[in-house]
Amino acid sequence: MEINHKQQQVKEWFDRIYRTKGFSYLRAQPAYEIFTSLLKVKPGKKHLDIACGLGLMLKTMADRGLQCYGIDISDEAVTRAKKYCPEAIIKVANAEKLPFPDNTFDYITCLGSLERMFNREKVIREQLRVAKTSARFCFMVRNSEHFIWRFFLRPFGLDNKKGHQDALNIQEWISLFESCGLTIDRITRDHWPYYKTLSILWPFTKIDTSRPLRFLFPVSWSYEFIFILKKS
Ligand SMILES: C[S@@+](CC[C@H](N)C(=O)[O-])C[C@H]1O[C@@H](n2cnc3c(N)ncnc32)[C@H](O)[C@@H]1O
Repeated sequence: MEINHKQQQVKEWFDRIYRTKGFSYLRAQPAYEIFTSLLKVKPGKKHLDIACGLGLMLKTMADRGLQCYGIDISDEAVTRAKKYCPEAIIKVANAEKLPFPDNTFDYITCLGSLERMFNREKVIREQLRVAKTSARFCFMVRNSEHFIWRFFLRPFGLDNKKGHQDALNIQEWISLFESCGLTIDRITRDHWPYYKTLSILWPFTKIDTSRPLRFLFPVSWSYEFIFILKKS
């Protein structure tokens, strides 16, 4: 795998974070259910998770009967993801150069990661290359206009530079996706803050975290956006 100096820094930062924090760095397994509903996944289909981290999305899809593949730039993530989700085929790779043939996947997910990548156009075009014509894509990306990002993280330099934390506003994300050849099916907000709050308030109640919701607040207020897309 060829990576430049900046990407090497990101890789090393994630290797360290997974070694020291493990799963506690990421959201809990039920948080990943929502993506399966938004994508309306069907068993037997092929799924690729870009920047799969510790394999939580892969596990969720494998449990729903999909054939799962993942890549991540961090060796530590891949070693751990292989243990967590042995059903999936997981490789160390840079999202800018995917180790898969053209026209392979029915679903591609890329969660909390695109904003950390340096050449986002190249990353999206690689996903388009390996996706089937009918494929559906799901990205979860950070909003630069959320008050936390705008008034705390950026002005005080608290964003994580070694992990290349970044954000764009909703219009910038839309332009990026559309200019690369994707059509937007749906934009919604990250559901996990809501479901997590419910599970704290009612710890003994079973909450269906896969149910898409309609929120009262405008989507542009969310901390992270979920985009569902298809090839143009
Ligand atoms: C915040 S974590 C999200 C992990 C996972 N998607 C999840 O939601 O559980 C971001 C991930 O992006 C990976 N990453 C960053 N840049 C990458 C690149 N250029 N190619 C592949 N993976 C990358 C990191 O190693 C890390 O595992």
